Amino acid sequence: MSAKKLIAANWKMNGSRALVEAVSQQLTSINATVDVLICPPATLLAHFPVSEHFSLGAQNISEHQQGAYTGELSAGLLLEAGASFVLLGHSERRQYYAETDALVCAKLQQAVAAGLTPVLCIGETLAERQQENTQQVIAKQLAAVYASHPELLVKSVIAYEPVWAIGTGESATPEQAQATHAFIRAQLALYDSAAAAKVRILYGGSVNAANCQALFAQADIDGALVGGASLKPDEFMQICQSAK
Ligand code: G3H
Repeated sequence: MSAKKLIAANWKMNGSRALVEAVSQQLTSINATVDVLICPPATLLAHFPVSEHFSLGAQNISEHQQGAYTGELSAGLLLEAGASFVLLGHSERRQYYAETDALVCAKLQQAVAAGLTPVLCIGETLAERQQENTQQVIAKQLAAVYASHPELLVKSVIAYEPVWAIGTGESATPEQAQATHAFIRAQLALYDSAAAAKVRILYGGSVNAANCQALFAQADIDGALVGGASLKPDEFMQICQSAK
């Protein structure tokens, strides 16, 4: 369990310069006992003011360092645009852009090499949960990165996002989330037990102002990755303030 919780906003393909202003303004009064991360679309990164109250992150990077890859953005470019974190392996990337575990691992290596902190997103689908394969799926997603690169764990954040809870309004219960977070930490200990004890494991999937407190009370939940509710400045602020 990490000392300070991390609340991350994933704006996905949403937002505007007006939202950048509203959220930046709102966060000027955030309590320093919580870390806040905003991951907007890449084009908005440069419109945020430099702030001691929050960090910025990208939602994806290329697996290549540079070169003839039209339309792609490298870790280095995003770092220069103001990002210090990057979401990797989000289920929407795995599902709609066919990102495999091997590709996610390559991107994670690029991120760390460039100096970005990767937030590795993992989680099972509804069918996988119903077939009681949650642990197997998660163990495989973690092994794909950390079995061959255990040294990357100390530089990582993990986000557990059950796919069935994303954007559905149906969050995992605090008990369900805690059980999976504890399993994730135990799996990670196979690769680096000291890093596993400290790594921040965020929960994501329909987190809102009403359910976040019970989630944050769980021993192995070190913060949240918030989608829809992060687009509402007041509600996002409430979530951040609940994470003490
Ligand atoms: O990255 C964030 C997650 O996909 C959660 O999205 O809070 O809208 O369910 P949500």
